Amino acid sequence: MILILDFGSQYTQLIARRVRELNVYCEIHPYNHIPEFTDNVKGVILSGSPCSVRDADAPAVDLKELTDRLPVLGVCYGAQLIAHLNGGEVLPSQIREYGRAKLSKVDTHNELMKEMSLNSQVWMSHADTIAALPQDFEVIASTPTVDIVAFKVMGKETYGIQFHPEVTHSIEGKTVLRNFVVHICQCSQDWTPDIFVETTIAALKEKLGNDKVVLGLSGGVDSSVAATLIHRAIGKNLHCIFVDNGLLRKNEFEDVLNSYKGMGLNVKGVDAREQFYQALAGQTDPEKKRKAIGKVFIDVFDAEAHSIENVSWLGQGTIYPDVIESVSVKGPSATIKSHHNVGGLPDYMKLKVVEPLNTLFKDEVRLVGKTLGIDDTILGRHPFPGPGLAIRILGEINEERVKILQEVDYIFIQSLKASGWYDKVWQAGAILLPVQSVGVMGDERTYEGVVSLRAVSSVDGMTADWSHLPYELLGDISNEIINKVKGVNRVVYDISTKPPATIEWE
Ligand code: XMP
Repeated sequence: MILILDFGSQYTQLIARRVRELNVYCEIHPYNHIPEFTDNVKGVILSGSPCSVRDADAPAVDLKELTDRLPVLGVCYGAQLIAHLNGGEVLPSQIREYGRAKLSKVDTHNELMKEMSLNSQVWMSHADTIAALPQDFEVIASTPTVDIVAFKVMGKETYGIQFHPEVTHSIEGKTVLRNFVVHICQCSQDWTPDIFVETTIAALKEKLGNDKVVLGLSGGVDSSVAATLIHRAIGKNLHCIFVDNGLLRKNEFEDVLNSYKGMGLNVKGVDAREQFYQALAGQTDPEKKRKAIGKVFIDVFDAEAHSIENVSWLGQGTIYPDVIESVSVKGPSATIKSHHNVGGLPDYMKLKVVEPLNTLFKDEVRLVGKTLGIDDTILGRHPFPGPGLAIRILGEINEERVKILQEVDYIFIQSLKASGWYDKVWQAGAILLPVQSVGVMGDERTYEGVVSLRAVSSVDGMTADWSHLPYELLGDISNEIINKVKGVNRVVYDISTKPPATIEWE
């Protein structure tokens, strides 16, 4: 296992993903919350940071304690910290050290730089630079403008690199990470979906025994994979609940319920549409809508969970990015990101929580799902927000407006699938706007609703670009919507990026 110490860089999660891609398990921990070392830990990576080692309150670690015990690789700030704490000189950079650079000197005899090419493109992003190294450090890579791009501490397995090996713009970044993780730390590359499935099912069997688990399915990837793993471990003792909140896509409830039953899961479908519509009546404020939906969900789920005798566990599809402790480098203590779970279930349910995916990134969840034989129609689904169409209906929500949006959304999604665009976009959906516009149909003047289509490309939903769908496709979709959906006479396409816009409109 590799321990990644986070100093607040935006790229820390990327380092972890790259290490996992090498089939090596790793964990991210805040630099000031280092866990107890076990024999499992084979090496440490120090991340970048928005701070400068020259700041009076610069985040730091007991470096000697780490480097005496284990191989250590400092990346960017991590490298500067190693140099600084050993008496090297770190100064504000006089030249631009942002973006691409090419290695003009590489010591390929050094274990970290093995198989790196001369002129290899690396990605820099730092305001400070290492101006002078301590005596017992050697330079192992340079660019034409930066002498100390990578270094090794002589006689120790301690290394620093000023570029970011985790970003794809560092073309051979993965080679550097492989050299460190596999050759220097000697981690075995056995973190594979197959092994994860095997060990997780065995661990779940041990943990849950004959206990009963209740789990809320949403139709999404995470809850489906979590349910399948638990089901493999305890079979019929897993009770799944799938709630129809009246805010799902057209046919979604029936289709998803059928595919879950086809997978052998013990699922109870609960039609709670009326309860949700009643709670939403007259609500137009986005946050109040979310709260109302969350509350009804808890009430419905709680009632259903209590109808299962002797249930003692709540299963959840929480994934790793939801539980990583985010580090606050501007303050003295690490802040813990709050758990995001199925509608935020209250403590009074008194259930123990089992979260089999809480060490996995989203792409790993998909790979595990594939290993488990889950159908691509579930694994390849676009993300869909918990409050569903409620946050895509601006203004008041009622059954009639839900129906209009379901029809529009259906035409849009089916067209994306038929044209091959569904798998190329990260998320897509339609938004019903709270305005009416004038139109003309035949000889009649109309005054009807407006919908916006939204399709985005993204990696994790944190940033997004609008998808450049072909004009012809957009034209066909617009025609079909206006001709088939009564109540809509105008279609627009959202071409905003996130930031500054968000993916959803509410
Ligand atoms: P935004 O609109 O913040 O969306 O750019 C980013 C991603 O989060 C989803 N989203 C939600 N998911 N409950 C959810 O479960 C919510 O209240 C919610 N709001 C936004 C959104 O669909 C996108 O994938």
